[in-house]
Parts: sequence; structure tokens; C-alpha cells
Amino acid sequence: MISKQLAGEKAVEFIKADMTIGLGTGSTVYWTIHRLGKMVKNGLQIRAIPTSKQTESLAKELGIPMTSFSEVSQLDLTIDGADEIDTHFNLIKGGGGALLREKLVAAASKRFIIAADDSNLVHTLGKFPLPVEVVPFAWEVTAQRIASLNCKPVLRMNNKKPYITDNGNFILDCSFEKIENPLDLSEKLKLIPGVVETGLFIDMADLIIVGSKNDIRLINK
Ligand code: A5P
Repeated sequence: MISKQLAGEKAVEFIKADMTIGLGTGSTVYWTIHRLGKMVKNGLQIRAIPTSKQTESLAKELGIPMTSFSEVSQLDLTIDGADEIDTHFNLIKGGGGALLREKLVAAASKRFIIAADDSNLVHTLGKFPLPVEVVPFAWEVTAQRIASLNCKPVLRMNNKKPYITDNGNFILDCSFEKIENPLDLSEKLKLIPGVVETGLFIDMADLIIVGSKNDIRLINK
């Protein structure tokens, strides 16, 4: 936990006055958002776009000013966590269920910073089941088509009911074990009717902040 806190808090050093900031979701950026809340209280002027309802309510609670895509089309910086990071800066995200908004916000950002800990660094993606957001209608058929790509899709549940994303969709957690070619898999998944978005973030990150028990490392692209 300490390592995620270190990385999450370090990330605020990249936030400057008057920036529009994308705020990620999860237990690492929780610390970023708390730090940012203090900076705003001390007079820092920024505007933020949250990547989930959870982050939106935390940011509101802390008095962080919000904006939306009806007012801005580009963000200066987005800070988010990741479930897995490979050596080519590819990511698996969506463990917290916010992958669709996270990808939209990251794609609209000039700079995308990932805060994580040692345990998230992998040689090859895939040990962490890949979250795939699908529309509820015919999800069973969508799951079969995804399974034909050599994985086991499992419908994410919440209190014995399907987990519902902020966008009203389901999530299939897909165990691939090893994703040798993330771009190829991403393209194949996106061609399946019913797939809204995948947790594969290909070559989107610009900087990785890795916290460990004793120190923080910055991995630049
Ligand atoms: C949320 O949907 C995810 O993409 C998170 O960013 C990711 O799961 C990392 O979460 P932690 O910071 O809690 O490890």
C-alpha cells in the first residue's frame, strides 16, 4: 500500500497551474487526488475531468473544480493507475471497471502518466484477466466470440448480480495468461459486435511512476 501511495503522491509534481487534468480511478490515484485536493485548498488553480463516478465524488468532496468535454476537448495531463504494464508501455487497465472513460480521457490528453507499484510491472501482459466492456444485450454471444480468441471470459459480478459500469454495460474478465501481441488482440476484440472497449491501452502512456517499499522510479518513454 505504501508503494502505491508513494507513486500516487509523486504524480502531483507534474501538475501545474491552469492545467486541465484527467483524474484516473483506483487505489493509487486515490492518493494523487487527495494530494491535489490539498494543493487546490492552498490556491492551485486547475480544472479536472474524472474517469468514473467514484473519482468524481471523491474530487467533489475535496473541492477540486471540475469541467467536462462540453467545455474542453483536450486535457494537459491525465494521471491514472494500471493493473499491468509491459516493457513497451502497453497496459492492462479496468480492474476497477472504469476502462472506457479512462481510455477516452487518456486519448484526449497531451500527456498520460501512470502511477503504479513494482507488482504491476510485467514482461508480457495477460496474467491479470483482461477487462472487456460489453453491451448487456446478447452478452452471452459476445462472450462466446471472445472465448474463440483463446481465453476464458468471466462475467464480472457484484452482490450476485452482473457488475454494471458507469456507462450501463457489463464487464467480461478474460484470462489469456499471455498476450504476445496486444495490438493484434485489441484489434480483433474491437471487431466483435457487442464489444464496447477493452482494457488494453496500447502505447498510450508517456511516463510510468513506479513506487516500491523504499523508493520511486520514473520510467520515461
Ligand atoms: C480502474 O478501472 C483501473 O483501470 C485502475 O486504474 C487500475 O485497476 C489500477 O488500480 P489500482 O491503482 O487500484 O491498482
